Amino acid sequence: MMKSLSVLVAIAALAAKVSAHYTWPQLIVGGVNTTAWEYVRETNNWQDLNPQTDVTQTDIRCYTSLESGTSSTMSVAAGSSVGFTVDGNPSNLYHPGVLNVYMAKAPSGTDVASWDGSGEVWFKIYQISAVTDGGETITFPATGLSEVTFPIPSETPSGQYLIRIEHIALHVAGSYGGAQFYIACAQVEVTNGGTGTPGPLVEFPGEYTGYEPGILIDIYYPIPANYTQPGPPIWPAAGGSSPPASSQTTSTVVSTTSIKSTATSSIKTTATTTATSGPTGTGVAQYAQCGGEGWTGSTVCVSPYTCTVLNSYYSQCL
Ligand SMILES: *[C@@H]1O[C@H](CO)[C@@H](O)[C@H](O)[C@H]1NC(C)=O
Ligand SMILES: *[C@@H]1O[C@H](CO)[C@@H](O)[C@H](O)[C@H]1NC(C)=O
Repeated sequence: MMKSLSVLVAIAALAAKVSAHYTWPQLIVGGVNTTAWEYVRETNNWQDLNPQTDVTQTDIRCYTSLESGTSSTMSVAAGSSVGFTVDGNPSNLYHPGVLNVYMAKAPSGTDVASWDGSGEVWFKIYQISAVTDGGETITFPATGLSEVTFPIPSETPSGQYLIRIEHIALHVAGSYGGAQFYIACAQVEVTNGGTGTPGPLVEFPGEYTGYEPGILIDIYYPIPANYTQPGPPIWPAAGGSSPPASSQTTSTVVSTTSIKSTATSSIKTTATTTATSGPTGTGVAQYAQCGGEGWTGSTVCVSPYTCTVLNSYYSQCL
């Protein structure tokens, strides 16, 4: 009895560390999923799906230091909706966490494709926060989304922009550096723009210290009575609040996950890793599962990684 319980706890702990990572490969325009990494800059984790956790690194901006950091630029009308798809294991925002979308305008005369997004240039246009009720429960409405869509504010001036999406997973955020940032940046040209002045403008890295109450937070015990969304307020402020949850996506909401159900279901997900193919050939991606009791998937890792036994329940490509 004790033994099987401790094994379960060990599996749950492993699952929290190694499973359920994801990327944002496709820009959604006009309801259509565009080709992966065509308008979204290919992120460092496009194969291993791992999060960025150091908010002081330049990678907290677009997570592209190991990639070329450029894509094609998609034309979008101000006031229209765009979005990002989620790809991973499984392909939804599996972890409990919160979401922000920022935009930054490339300096006039600069092609956004060759712009790095540095400086105090980012303004927030959208967020999905946590829902609290004074300490009884905390829920994360972004959990389970397989795509996230949001409007480009009609007040946005015409011009070329980066759109930066981030999901901040909070399941192990109780110690510094535990929050997991799943980030991507897309390149767009906003047409039919308005005459607004976006702001407040913030910088990445810089905006987050990692010590914010919404980033360094134990979401399990005691259950937080309130939640403070990281980052500046949404622009434009009209209405004074974020868009209602019902407009946030049209796609699969697996559930509005409470911390209890998340903890339970994370036990089940270790066996679903599939290979991410890439220049190194087919096989299981770095850090993904490649074996263990009950494992029925591939046991071959992409080059140059080796399937390494961590325990009888879990082998990983390292
Ligand atoms: C777009 O991608 C999302 C996420 O993978 C998927 O759920 C959705 O069905 C796709 N939509 C279309 C029209 O293919
Ligand atoms: C909850 O509110 C208090 C008082 O404003 C604040 O100090 C604390 O940081 C908040 N907690 C979270 C998790 O945002």
